[in-house]
Amino acid sequence: WKTLDDMDLTGKVVLTRVDINVPVENGRVTDATRIERIVPTVKDILAKGGKPVLLAHFDRPKGKVVPEMSLRVVLPALEAGLGTKVAFAEDCIGPKASEAVAALAPGEVLLLENTRFHAGEEKNDPAFVKALAAVGDIYCNDAFSAAHRAHASTEGLAHEMPSCAGRLMQAELGALEKALGKPERPVVAVVGGAKVSTKLDLLGNLISRVDTLVIGGGMANTFLAAQGIDVGKSLCEHDLTDTAKDVAEKASAAGCTILLPVDVVVAREFKANAANEIVPADKCPADAMILDAGPEATKAITAAFEAAKTLVWNGPLGAFEIPPFNAATDAAATEAARLTREGKLLSVAGGGDTVAALNASGAAEDFTYVSTAGGAFLEWLEGKTLPGVAALEQA
Ligand code: 3PG
Repeated sequence: WKTLDDMDLTGKVVLTRVDINVPVENGRVTDATRIERIVPTVKDILAKGGKPVLLAHFDRPKGKVVPEMSLRVVLPALEAGLGTKVAFAEDCIGPKASEAVAALAPGEVLLLENTRFHAGEEKNDPAFVKALAAVGDIYCNDAFSAAHRAHASTEGLAHEMPSCAGRLMQAELGALEKALGKPERPVVAVVGGAKVSTKLDLLGNLISRVDTLVIGGGMANTFLAAQGIDVGKSLCEHDLTDTAKDVAEKASAAGCTILLPVDVVVAREFKANAANEIVPADKCPADAMILDAGPEATKAITAAFEAAKTLVWNGPLGAFEIPPFNAATDAAATEAARLTREGKLLSVAGGGDTVAALNASGAAEDFTYVSTAGGAFLEWLEGKTLPGVAALEQA
C-alpha cells in the first residue's frame, strides 16, 4: 500500500479517516490518546500542502442522527491536540460538507460529523461511498483501530479514490509485524481477560506462532477446571473445559508451552480491598473465587519474559480494576517495561482493558508499542484479514 510519501498532496483535499472514538464523560474527553496519535498524520498532510478533512465515527448511533453522539464533543480536545483551530461541518456528505471544505483556508483542518449518522456507512453502501468521495480528492486511512470494520469510510473509499495509509496506520502495522509477523524468538504472549469464549480464535492462532502462552484472568480458571481442578465460585466457563483441553493439547503438539497460574489470590467478595488469601491453584476454597494470579505465578511469568525476545500482550492477568487484584498485572507489566527499557525485549500491547491496565501501572510508556486498537488488535492477532487494511493493499 501507499503512504503519504507516495502522494502529491499540494492543494488537495485529503479525506483522512481517523479513529477518534474516544471516551467522553460529562461532555469532556477523558482519554485523548487516540487524538494524540493522529497528530503526525494531520501535520504531515498540512506540511505537504494538503487540506486535512477528518472523517470519523463516534459511538454507535446505528444510522440515525443522535445529537448526543455528535463529534462536536471532541472538537476542544482535537484543537488542543493539534494546537490549531479545527472547523466543523454538520454533515459528512452533501452541501454542508462541501461548503465547509470550500471555506477551508490553507493550513486549516476540518472535522466532518459522525459518519455513522448515515445508514450507508456501516452497510458500505456504494451510493454513500460516492457521496463521501465527492467531498475530497485523496483518501488517507489512519484508522487502524477501525480497520476490522468493512464500512464505507474504512473500506469502501479505498476503492473509490487515490488512497494511502496514514502515519498511525503505518506505525500500528509495523509494530504488529515485528511482534508476530517476523518476530525475534522466543516469543511470549499474554492472553488474559474474563472469557475463553471471546478469545478462542486468538488462542488457536497464537499456539502455532508463539513459544510460550501465558493464560491469565478468568480464562485461566476454565483451563484449570479442564485439568479437573475445583475453582470454587470463580468465573469459569464450565461448558468450554473440553475446548480448553483441546487448546492445551494442540499447544503441546505445536511446541508451545502454556503457562497457567500455580498459585492464585482468592476472595469471597468481588470488590476492592476484599479480604483475600494466596492459595495453590488447586486449593481454591469452595466458597471463594480466584481474582488474581499469585506471587509464584507472577514469578514464572516474569521469568518467561526474561527468557523471551518478543512479548505480545492482550488482556489483564486478574481483576485489575479492583485493587489489590491488579497486583499480578502490575508486577508483570512493570517487569516487561524494565526489560524493554534495557533493550532486552520488544513489547507490544493492545486492547481496551489491557491499555487501561498498563497505563494504571505506569508501564505503558516503556512498552515498545501500545496499540490504540481494541477489536482490530484482537482480530489481527487472530490472524484475520482486516478489511480496511486489505482495501489499502488492493488500491
Ligand atoms: C473502537 O473503539 O474499537 C473502534 O472505534 C471501533 O468501534 P466499534 O466497535 O463501534 O466499531
